[in-house]
Amino acid sequence: MIVDLNSRYGLNPAHSEVVDACKIIEPCDTLDMGCSNGRNAVHLGQLGFNITAIDTNPSAIDILKSIIIEENIDNIKAQVYDINNASLGEDYGFISCTVTLMFIDPARVDAVINDMHKRTLAGGYNLIVCAMNTEEHPCPVRFPFTLKAGQLREAYEGWEMIKYNEDVGTMHNGAKLQFATILARKPD
Ligand SMILES: C[S@@+](CC[C@H](N)C(=O)[O-])C[C@H]1O[C@@H](n2cnc3c(N)ncnc32)[C@H](O)[C@@H]1O
Repeated sequence: MIVDLNSRYGLNPAHSEVVDACKIIEPCDTLDMGCSNGRNAVHLGQLGFNITAIDTNPSAIDILKSIIIEENIDNIKAQVYDINNASLGEDYGFISCTVTLMFIDPARVDAVINDMHKRTLAGGYNLIVCAMNTEEHPCPVRFPFTLKAGQLREAYEGWEMIKYNEDVGTMHNGAKLQFATILARKPD
């Protein structure tokens, strides 16, 4: 029986968009950008993906490293890395960046997305989930960066759009928060 490591280590279940993406993406070299303490990386690892998990927060990376050691996991590497550098050193079949882009320096977002494009193998996938700020739904949280309507779709012009939406959700306090979600495939 496969033990659910997310439950064993008190991690939340993987982001629903990561779970959905794994239904169509075959296990491959994968980058988890802004991995926190690893809820998505651990889930992906159990599915056989080979993951590099990066976050700027050393405490979060230490927690993930302790899980890796405890469970003898050989397909997750956890590293402290500042996404603002936009200088990834390897190529990946899948790059996942869920609820992280809004913490990036707004002046670096284009460079970060361009670097993700560059580091995605032909036929590989990018998943981004990021908060938006639009006239209809002003963002109630003061994130450093928020997307405008259509901005993420434009950034992926020329890629195959597997999924794109700009859905509005409701926070625990009732406030409305709009997110853009993209799953796109780089041309072969
Ligand atoms: C809301 S959490 C999302 C975690 C995870 N992606 C998920 O879906 O649960 C955002 C994460 O982004 C990380 N982060 C923020 N700015 C970053 C940066 N410049 N470079 C790398 N990670 C960053 C934070 O430390 C935090 O762990």
